[in-house]
Amino acid sequence: MNKVGTRTIETERMILRRFKIEDAQEMFDGWCNDPEVTRFLTWAPHGSVEVTKMLLNDWVPRYENGDYFNWGMELKEIGKLIGNISVVQVREDIGEALIGYCMSRAYWGNGYMPEALKAVMDYLFDVAGMNRVVATHDVNNPKSGRVMDKAGMKYEGTLRQASLNMQGICDSVYHSMIRSDREK
Ligand SMILES: CC(C)(COP(=O)(O)OP(=O)(O)OC[C@H]1O[C@@H](n2cnc3c(N)ncnc32)[C@H](O)[C@@H]1OP(=O)(O)O)[C@@H](O)C(=O)NCCC(=O)NCCS
Repeated sequence: MNKVGTRTIETERMILRRFKIEDAQEMFDGWCNDPEVTRFLTWAPHGSVEVTKMLLNDWVPRYENGDYFNWGMELKEIGKLIGNISVVQVREDIGEALIGYCMSRAYWGNGYMPEALKAVMDYLFDVAGMNRVVATHDVNNPKSGRVMDKAGMKYEGTLRQASLNMQGICDSVYHSMIRSDREK
């Protein structure tokens, strides 16, 4: 793995960039306090923007680390942050990155997350030198699976009662892309 950390990525409609402390209010208003967004995630709605600020105070210094990958998704057209895509776990021994993402409800259904996921996977393979990118979702949250399909990941299998989120213990659907998939 190349310790390149989080660099700016440009897609057709978005700039994927590092978060700044000043993003707190926009994140809170957009997705961090929405129970519909967090329904299948591991964390509860923030309740107060102070919680979002605390999170950013934890995240921002981590950009110093070459193995920290965490992007805010900014829509070019309006210069607004609409979501977050990040690597939530790295396994250096096998060059594996586990991806997580979420987005403001107002922007769902426009294909923004598949566009971001494709670009992040390109970065992780081509710049960070990963060999395998994985994502998982609650079996009851198939729209997240659609994102993985549209970004070109392959279904790997469903692990029974293997994850925990705001709904409790759930069956977890795995998708991945491996380096050799891209050569086909
Ligand atoms: C999952 C999520 C990232 C999808 O992002 P997106 O940019 O809307 O993705 P797409 O536009 O490609 O839509 C994906 C699917 O979501 C569903 N969808 C689209 N618009 C929707 C809406 N307004 N309301 C509910 N579901 C919707 C559709 O099933 C769609 O699949 P289709 O294109 O085959 O019809 C977004 O819904 C989200 O942030 N959800 C909450 C957080 C979350 O679940 N994260 C993943 C955890 S594993």
